[in-house]
Amino acid sequence: MEIVRSIAGVRAWRRGAGAGSLGFVPTMGALHAGHASLLRAARAGNDRVAASIFVNPTQFGPGEDFSRYPRTFAADCALLAAEGVALLFAPEPAEMYPAGFSTAIDVGPVGARLDGASRPGHFTGVATVVAKLFSITGPERAYFGQKDAAQVAVLRQMVRDLSLPVELQICPIVREPDGLALSSRNRYLSPAERVEALVLSRALLAAEDLARHGARDAAMLLETARAVLGEEPALRLDYLALVEPDTLEPVAFLEPGRPALLAVAGWIGVTRLIDNTLLSPV
Ligand code: PAJ
Repeated sequence: MEIVRSIAGVRAWRRGAGAGSLGFVPTMGALHAGHASLLRAARAGNDRVAASIFVNPTQFGPGEDFSRYPRTFAADCALLAAEGVALLFAPEPAEMYPAGFSTAIDVGPVGARLDGASRPGHFTGVATVVAKLFSITGPERAYFGQKDAAQVAVLRQMVRDLSLPVELQICPIVREPDGLALSSRNRYLSPAERVEALVLSRALLAAEDLARHGARDAAMLLETARAVLGEEPALRLDYLALVEPDTLEPVAFLEPGRPALLAVAGWIGVTRLIDNTLLSPV
């Protein structure tokens, strides 16, 4: 695996790599089995895979965890190499944002919903860095996790609006056996908090169960999930919402053939966690 720190280095690698499709997996490092699932999908669908590790400062708000975000570069490199990644782009912030950098991509209303509502500016940071990473690496396909469902909606909007020549591939959420969605931020959790965090997936499961048994009314599904969340005093809820997956606008009733996104976010201690599920009535 080649590790490249500069934009020019990636472009040179791309020229030298010759014909064949490139799958790209952008990350912020602290890699886990969720990231590995994206790498495997990228490998299966392309001739070569490139990944990036960049803890993007512009998607963190003041008071968020940018400076303490877990950085595990050596272990990440071992995982990437084992997954057959050909190129790792791991720039310093000054390479991505040199003095005078001033462009920002605002995708409009979808970027201000769910996490975009509670983390103002977050999705502008995400959209801008992802557009720049696409421009640098020039992949045919790029792989993202359904774990970050609002991020997926934002990036779909951006790719569509800017006619970016890249196909977005969305991979399912990878969970621990007990239901906790894998996240780099799970490392922040104490053993007790790790147990408390299970309330998120448990709440989603309760609503899924209800939907499977025919419930269609958003208020009822949300009430059921909220009741489960209320059982865990350690949780400080940020949002619980049933929304249309592309626009992130609220859904009032489940309709056959129209999957709706049930998404939740909250803090356990100082750690902000998110989770979601797609409710697909038949
Ligand atoms: P990061 O949080 O490192 O996540 C990188 C990719 O891994 C994202 O597409 C995310 O949805 C996916 N992922 C994380 N946990 C997952 C899980 N449990 N199952 C499946 N996929 C999972 O998301 C970012 O980085 C950044 O915002 C980035 C897109 C790199 C832009 O900076």
